Amino acid sequence: MSKNQTLFERAQRVIPGGVNSPVRAFRAVGGTPRFITRGDGAYIYDADGQRYIDYIGSWGPMILGHGHPAVLEAVISAAREGFSYGAPTEREIELAEEILKLVPSMEQVRLVSSGTEATMSAIRLARGATGRSKFIKFEGCYHGHTDALLVKAGSGLATFGHPTSAGVPEEVAQHTLVLEFNHLAQLEEAFLLHGKSLACVIIEPIAGNMNFVRTQVAYMKRLRELCTESGALLVLDEVMTGFRVGLASAQGLYAQLIPGFKPDISVFGKVIGGGMPLAAFGASREIMKHLAPLGGVYQAGTLSGNPVATACGLATLREIQKPGFFEALSAKTRSLVDGLATVAKANGVPFSVDCEGGMFGFFLMDKLPQEYQTVMTTDKARFNQFFHAMLDAGVYLAPALYEAGFVSAAHSEADIEATLAAAAQALR
Ligand SMILES: Cc1ncc(COP(=O)(O)O)c(C=O)c1O
Repeated sequence: MSKNQTLFERAQRVIPGGVNSPVRAFRAVGGTPRFITRGDGAYIYDADGQRYIDYIGSWGPMILGHGHPAVLEAVISAAREGFSYGAPTEREIELAEEILKLVPSMEQVRLVSSGTEATMSAIRLARGATGRSKFIKFEGCYHGHTDALLVKAGSGLATFGHPTSAGVPEEVAQHTLVLEFNHLAQLEEAFLLHGKSLACVIIEPIAGNMNFVRTQVAYMKRLRELCTESGALLVLDEVMTGFRVGLASAQGLYAQLIPGFKPDISVFGKVIGGGMPLAAFGASREIMKHLAPLGGVYQAGTLSGNPVATACGLATLREIQKPGFFEALSAKTRSLVDGLATVAKANGVPFSVDCEGGMFGFFLMDKLPQEYQTVMTTDKARFNQFFHAMLDAGVYLAPALYEAGFVSAAHSEADIEATLAAAAQALR
């Protein structure tokens, strides 16, 4: 038995399903999850000593690769000073200033410890600021595991959602309206029916939880207009896209295409923590003044703005602002996805790809899907076969067809070439 198998059996005795977050269990693709012993640059190593080119990057945060020297130094030096105080530190101000400098739609930001916490707090803030209860989310978008966000669409448009998870009461889902991603007519109708009672609309600008699906520009433009007209707040969940698709994040990309575009509330995570538990939400001063201790919307955290996590995030943000960083990362990601498309075409495999900055998606279908239902028509058996062939060849892709992939600054041209060679074998 391999060490991975031994560890998995041992883990399952003491941890439900053997993992601390479900997707790690490989349930979608089958097989034994790899237990990781260390990461170094673009690579992770498992308990059996196998090396993998890592295209998960901890599901997004590791934009510099593993163990970047400047980040490591910042973390070690912060840890020496102390792990946590439960009192404010200058580094929290520095990180807030750094984030605000890069995201002009926000005037203030609150630091928390996870993306789940950040989106949960953003919804509460939107509700507190507007005095309204209802909100819209989209099928296929994931915003963490808060009760009111674990909701699937109701049976008809005018109906509200149903919980997707046991343990979430129907009453908690009754204010969540779930719409199809990129479906303009549905959006118009939802606003006609409920616009004046909506606190907010929360959306992933590029949905990375149904692989990689962009919000269409015309759709985003109309969504912004409808929110403004009805007094609902537009919440962009950039936990995945933030500082990952570009220095200005996804909202910067949309602002280039839609003059004057900006969200009311933004949510960040992953890259801003550089691999440490850190996330944030922010907005204008006008909106943020509703947050405790200034206003009545309560939100708090023992480890919020943790000194070691903020050091890690700050060092990461400083690295990605170096001249040419995103140009180089984007070119690398582009060469990977173009290469995969070429290999697939040569083997007659239906394939489509998209990418932005250091985030990418590929689909075993001819055309890029625009919403969740189409994503889920992917040939699952074929995807799983491809995933395992790549894994056996030392390439670690996301173990589910509905997850995005990530390239880091540490990936070399040789890594990309090795990946394409493995893909050529796997698709043959
Ligand atoms: C877009 C988005 N929002 C929120 C979350 C939740 O973040 P966390 O896992 O840090 O709680 C995720 C996690 O993958 C995410 O992708």
